[in-house]
Amino acid sequence: MYGEDFERKVNEIVASYPQPRGAVMPILHLVQEKADFVPLEAEVWVADRLGLTPSFVHGIVTFYTMYRTSRCGDYLLQLCTTVSCMLRGCDSVLDHIKNKLQIEVGETTADGKFTLVTVECLGSCGTAPVLQVNDDYYEDMDIERTDKLLDALGRGQRPEFGPGPGPRRVVVE
Ligand code: FES
Repeated sequence: MYGEDFERKVNEIVASYPQPRGAVMPILHLVQEKADFVPLEAEVWVADRLGLTPSFVHGIVTFYTMYRTSRCGDYLLQLCTTVSCMLRGCDSVLDHIKNKLQIEVGETTADGKFTLVTVECLGSCGTAPVLQVNDDYYEDMDIERTDKLLDALGRGQRPEFGPGPGPRRVVVE
């Protein structure tokens, strides 16, 4: 679907699972890497390749927020609005982003730079509120930090304070 290299990686992924359906999520990630989102025709292709129904694959794509169903801006802003982030002020961060960028949740700025979505827990509740920008976590966000972050990203830079380390992982030795 996306060339020989893509097909080779798909075959490797499928071979690493005892059941083909186990490969559905990594293959969808691969599709998203190639296409920037998961187009409907790719869902049908994945379903066909793995012997699944298109509706099963569509259910996965639309359930998990890490899959995108349309092209987004250069910076995908994913603001967590689950309990810890809500208690620590994500609502004011959300309002600030919407006002500053003049977009609503689910929209992209006219210049194609920013897309804003809200998501469930990002697994970094101890540093709430959390805003994920593409693959990076920006933590302990408030209006001032959000402002600096958006200004820096608008210039194609990172703010001096981040990104943070992301979800804390407990290492068991
Ligand atoms: S509630 Fe926001 S990261 Fe967990």
